[in-house]
Amino acid sequence: TDARPLAFPVPANVYVETVVSVRHYTDRLFSFRITRPQSLRFRSGEFVMIGLPNAEKPVFRAYSVASPAWDEELEFFSIKVPDGPLTSELQKIQPGDPILMRQKATGTLVVDALTPAKRVFMISTGTGFAPFASLLRDPETYEKFEQVVVTHTCRDRDELVYGQELVASIVEDPLIGEFAAGRVTLYSTTTRETSPHMGRITALMDSGKFYEDLGIEKLDPANDRVMICGSMHMLKDVKERVEALGFREGSVSHPGDFVVERAFVG
Ligand code: A2P
Repeated sequence: TDARPLAFPVPANVYVETVVSVRHYTDRLFSFRITRPQSLRFRSGEFVMIGLPNAEKPVFRAYSVASPAWDEELEFFSIKVPDGPLTSELQKIQPGDPILMRQKATGTLVVDALTPAKRVFMISTGTGFAPFASLLRDPETYEKFEQVVVTHTCRDRDELVYGQELVASIVEDPLIGEFAAGRVTLYSTTTRETSPHMGRITALMDSGKFYEDLGIEKLDPANDRVMICGSMHMLKDVKERVEALGFREGSVSHPGDFVVERAFVG
């Protein structure tokens, strides 16, 4: 394909990649895939900095890579903020458009930051599902944990579709299907529209309904690890709860029982 000339010089240590596909889920959420630079190395669950080549000093924002580390493209799951410095423009991208990406991936939501256990719980709201879309498609997740329970809470049902389709596709995937079969449970909840499961995950944990609905044992640091991704308030509220149960925060240098990362907003 012929790359169009860019109107502004490319900043140092930035890749110029190309949009491959875009899918809009609601007026607030969309996903897109871009070409992957050959030299980019990342661990499933990490984030990169994304921008558009529309200014001398482009705005960059953190985006969790939603595709797994083995994928030849990169996938992202994004909010659209009408007056957001990046997303107001990013939501207009089309296949073939250029995208900027800083040449470094980083982040705390990686399996190496957790010690081994029977189950891993991935707790998300909104676009906080993105790093789990990556981890759910990585065989390493299934090598480390027997069972994966992923929760996704959004305002409305349409916002849950990305996660629901992703989990459904895993079982059919020729590579991941054999690892994931019978081992992944998705618990989708809404807070502002009627759906089969309603309420914030924090309230559903407090009441015990989360465990009853799935017919599973309660969270226990002896058996479980937890990964959390969502808004600042959600992180604080979920973190408080798992810490009260005795979970200790981990990092790659000191693996522990749970890890936390703020989902991109703005
Ligand atoms: P709610 O509708 O009660 O605010 P948003 O789209 O605003 O980022 O929110 C995504 C989802 O996260 C919504 O369903 C929202 O519920 C939920 N949420 C917001 N704050 C918290 C919190 N502190 N703990 C748990 N869930 C939260």
